[in-house]
Amino acid sequence: MKALILSGGKGTRLRPITHTGAKQLVPVANKPILFYAIENIVAAGITDIGIIVGDTHKEIRAAVGDGSAFGAKVTYIQQEAPLGLAHAVKISEEFMAGDSFVMFLGDNLIKDGITKLVNQFRDSGVNSQILLAHVPNPTSFGVAEVKGDRIVRLVEKPKVPPSDLALVGVYMFDNNIFKAVNAIKPSARGELEITDAIQYLIDEKYDVASFIIEGWWKDTGKLEDMLEANRMMLDSVKPCVAGTVDRDTEIDGRVVVGKGTVVTGSRLRGPAIIGENCVIKDSYIGPYSSVNNGCKVINSEVEHSIILEHSEISIGARLEDSLIGKNVKISESDIKPKAYRFMVGDNSEVSII
Ligand code: TTP
Repeated sequence: MKALILSGGKGTRLRPITHTGAKQLVPVANKPILFYAIENIVAAGITDIGIIVGDTHKEIRAAVGDGSAFGAKVTYIQQEAPLGLAHAVKISEEFMAGDSFVMFLGDNLIKDGITKLVNQFRDSGVNSQILLAHVPNPTSFGVAEVKGDRIVRLVEKPKVPPSDLALVGVYMFDNNIFKAVNAIKPSARGELEITDAIQYLIDEKYDVASFIIEGWWKDTGKLEDMLEANRMMLDSVKPCVAGTVDRDTEIDGRVVVGKGTVVTGSRLRGPAIIGENCVIKDSYIGPYSSVNNGCKVINSEVEHSIILEHSEISIGARLEDSLIGKNVKISESDIKPKAYRFMVGDNSEVSII
């Protein structure tokens, strides 16, 4: 069996972060989301992985390399434009070379992994198996109508949902899926839809089974989801202090402090993670914060936030529920007249007191 991870796309819902980087590389608990997917796939015994890439291919190639760091062999498949999930499948036909595969959306996070699902698919001999989850708001998802463990119909964002079972972002297919993706036509939004391809399999009487996930999962396409994913992953972080923490600093709960990081006169309250080579001075780093490598937090409070590499926060105030990009500087200034001074990129969101 092989795997296909989808890491192209536009990432419009995470602008401005995605103006300059791939959303699949935004870290939760200081690890890129995409790495969790690769680890889940390798843990399920699959090491031959195709990664669909788009405009952000350079960055993804630089982060993942040939896959050997994960015990995998990675092949990159360039998608000329985000023409839909089923289009991504279509262009992977040569790579699959007749094998069955698991398709994993590169911005999805499945806390307990996919080993059980992969094993069940291998043993069952069905043509396709789709991961589903009970959701409170099915009108915002692709929804499945099921009979026993078989899927009989799929509807995209239904006004009257046939069930509360949403498609989660992990799909297993045998090579009949290529008949489907080659037969369907683009939808009204101009994309080849994976729901249409799966519906084609159902209509052509192939066996499409469901697997209902019980554990936590998240599609991290939006800021709130990213913060929730960060919370979920930090909940199981193992405490470890590799950097230097002075006597005036207090640590409560599960906190990770990376190598080369220096913490002085601060309070760290877990679960939280601070990367390598950071400076934390006279500050409070509160629960559910992930501060990435090379950051400086001076005379500030941070809680329930993700701060990417090499950013500096020195605001004499509290930062909450925030996602701060790379190389961002937010500081208090003595320049008169006292004023807010911004250089903020397109599609940024700033809330001030
Ligand atoms: P989406 O989140 O549905 O799409 P998107 O990344 O374009 O985001 P937005 O809606 O915010 O603009 O995509 C799910 C995953 O699949 C994500 O990792 C991107 C990837 N993808 C591709 O690789 N190729 C595609 O053609 C599409 C549509 C998505």
